[in-house]
Amino acid sequence: MARKQKLELTWIGKEKRSKLEPRVLVEEQPIRSAGRSAEGPPRLDDNLLIKGDNLLALKALESDYIGKVKCVYIDPPYNTKSAFNFFNDGVEHSIWMSLFVDRIKIIRRLLSEDGSIWISLDDNESHYAKVLCDEIFGRRNFVSNVIWQKLYTVKNSSRYLSDMHEHILVYAKNKSAWKPNLVPRSENAQRSYTNPDNDPRGRWTTNAIQARNYYSEGSYEISSPAGRVFVPPSGTYWRVSEETFNRLDADDRIWWGSSGSSTPRVKKFLFEAKDGVVPSTLWKHEEVGTNAEAKAESRALFADKGGVFDTPKPERLIQRVLQLASNPDDLVLDSFAGSGTTGAVAHKMGRQWIMIELGEHADTHIIPRLNKVIDGDDSGGVTGETGWQGGGGYRYFHLAPSLLEKDQWGQYVISKEFKPEMLAEAVCKLMGFTYAPSQVHFWQHGHSTETDFIYVTTQRLTHDALRKLSDEVGDDRTLLICCRAHEPNRFDNLTVRKIPQAVLDKAEWGRDDYSLNIQDAPAEPITEADLDDTAATTE
Ligand SMILES: C[S@@+](CC[C@H](N)C(=O)[O-])C[C@H]1O[C@@H](n2cnc3c(N)ncnc32)[C@H](O)[C@@H]1O
Repeated sequence: MARKQKLELTWIGKEKRSKLEPRVLVEEQPIRSAGRSAEGPPRLDDNLLIKGDNLLALKALESDYIGKVKCVYIDPPYNTKSAFNFFNDGVEHSIWMSLFVDRIKIIRRLLSEDGSIWISLDDNESHYAKVLCDEIFGRRNFVSNVIWQKLYTVKNSSRYLSDMHEHILVYAKNKSAWKPNLVPRSENAQRSYTNPDNDPRGRWTTNAIQARNYYSEGSYEISSPAGRVFVPPSGTYWRVSEETFNRLDADDRIWWGSSGSSTPRVKKFLFEAKDGVVPSTLWKHEEVGTNAEAKAESRALFADKGGVFDTPKPERLIQRVLQLASNPDDLVLDSFAGSGTTGAVAHKMGRQWIMIELGEHADTHIIPRLNKVIDGDDSGGVTGETGWQGGGGYRYFHLAPSLLEKDQWGQYVISKEFKPEMLAEAVCKLMGFTYAPSQVHFWQHGHSTETDFIYVTTQRLTHDALRKLSDEVGDDRTLLICCRAHEPNRFDNLTVRKIPQAVLDKAEWGRDDYSLNIQDAPAEPITEADLDDTAATTE
């Protein structure tokens, strides 16, 4: 039968998918936990920094965080063919697409039904990413392509057009369940509300009374208090009927200008206005910052230690994303954390966060930055606007090594680095069980339902041992036992599997790097001056 055709972007390697190993997360020291003991696997209400390849880290989070993330912001390498101080950004186009798709597919599963993803890209890959995301999220869930004005001056050195913007692609998990918040009214917008006639209802601004849309009751004469007569300008109509107009005028809601003879406008009072303004797709530099502002923030944070990060985003840009797409306590994820802007801003805004970063700058930049935020020592970025004074905490994890390694005869065996708890957790993840060791029953390492449990051991289980387990499990529960070896199982409430054999085909073993940072010879490195809009001139 002919294959059903669909519109899609194809490339070499599109169909090739890796069987990812769901790794265990291992805690690093020191922990910055807020006044409570934090140990064991991450808890759902922890702020998390994870060091490692984000594809493996996302896979590690998948089972526990499915449907729990409200807002994802990512700023992946743009594939600019450049080498930055902290990471390379030049991979072959098909590889970039494969890597991008693999990550976005897992991220989509992590999003809550009313969640959204915001993806920063430039012209190198953004249009391809749009098509790829259409395929993954469905075109119906495309929200917007936000244009962020990253510079405000033209670069005379540009060979073609001077590049002044980046894209932020926005997709909802389910657009019918997603609604953005309003943008808080800026000081500037507040200032446009005044009260020149001392109206007791307070400050107001005005809206035009005429519009181009045809309105059958919108053509009549209006006389001003000073005796001037107005009709709608050619091609326009009054937006309200004569009856409504008279009612508004009687309520002192029509403004005729200070002389009483200007074209009438309708007063809009501040107390009646919505709590904010409807977000637009054009994000100007005055509102959300520029690359130069981000560099200045990075300089203030890292100039003495670590070094200025090459490609940070301004805190105000991330603040805008989080204002629109999340509320206090919501979970925010950034799997290309860079210098940690998303976590820092999320923290200051009272959101819970998870960040993933592969590079050494997890240690040299993100941790010092977060510690400053927590200690109330970061006065930059959105600290003033959010009223942030310090507090909270986070936990720092890295990815455990692969569960299986090859022995001297080329056979897969369980890695010696796995202690019993880690082994139990890893096998739970592979078998689709939730790791939740019981304090009461040694054989309950995890569960798949309220009555179905898993027990992981490196022992060889005799018939006697199996009988004892079967008796404890009883008639109303079932137990999956993963052990090194066992005598034949004769008990209906037990299923017994040997490890590692039972998990061998569940994953690709021993692969630690699915990274976007393919170590190609870098082309022209981008210098600080390229990113710094003060280095540009306006004609
Ligand atoms: C453009 S930077 C993000 C900058 C960030 N928005 C900020 O404000 O600092 C992209 C980051 O993604 C990281 N990265 C690239 N591939 C990765 C991978 N496979 N896993 C985790 N992080 C990765 C790079 O190391 C780099 O820090």
